[in-house]
Amino acid sequence: MVDTFVHDPHAEERAAAVRSAMNDIGVLEADMGVTRAGVEAIRDRLVALVSHRHLFSRQVFPAPEPGARQRSRLYRISQGAGDRLALYVNSSEGASSTPVHDHTTWAVVVGFDGREVNRFFTHGEPHPDGGPGGPVPCGEFTVERGTGVAMLPDDLHSIHLDGAAMNFHLYGLALERLTGRRYWHEGDRVWKVFPPHSDIREARPLVGP
Ligand SMILES: [Fe+2]
Repeated sequence: MVDTFVHDPHAEERAAAVRSAMNDIGVLEADMGVTRAGVEAIRDRLVALVSHRHLFSRQVFPAPEPGARQRSRLYRISQGAGDRLALYVNSSEGASSTPVHDHTTWAVVVGFDGREVNRFFTHGEPHPDGGPGGPVPCGEFTVERGTGVAMLPDDLHSIHLDGAAMNFHLYGLALERLTGRRYWHEGDRVWKVFPPHSDIREARPLVGP
C-alpha cells in the first residue's frame, strides 16, 4: 500500500468499480475461454472501466520522476486467486519502446491517456537450427483513450511511446509468474527470455477485517 492511497477520496469507488469489472472478466474468461473472441470481450469490458476516468488520476498513479532510469511504472490494482487475472495501471513519461515479445498468457492493453503504438508480428521462416523464425510485421494499432488491443498467449507485439501515457495492462497470469516470455534480440537476431517483472508497485485496496 503506498501512502498516496491513504488520502485518495476515490479509493472506495475505484475498488468497487475494479471489483465489478474483474468479476465480469472472470465470467467472460470462464464462458468464452482463451479465444480471440474471448480476449476481445475482456478488452471491451476493460474499456468500460476506463469510462470511470476520475478514478484513475495521474496524481494517484504517477509516472517516474523526470530523469529516472525507468520511464514507466506499473501499479498492481487487482489480482485473483492463484495470481490469475492480474490488472495493472502503467504510467509512463517520455519516449520508450519494447522489443518484440510474447506473453505466454493472454494480454489486454486499454488506454487512458497518451498514445501507445502497438506493432504486431508473426513468426517468419524457421531458423536453420529449427528454432522459431524472427518477427515479421503484420499490423499496427495505436491505443488511445477508450481503445485497446487483445492478444492470445503466442501473439507477438512491440510497444512504442513518444510521450506521457497511462494504460491498463491486464494478464491472464500475474507478471511476476511469467518466467518464459520471449523477446526478439535484434542485435543477436535470436529469441531470448525476459526475466520475470520485479518492479511492481502494490496498489490494491486494503482488505478489511
Ligand atoms: Fe506486451
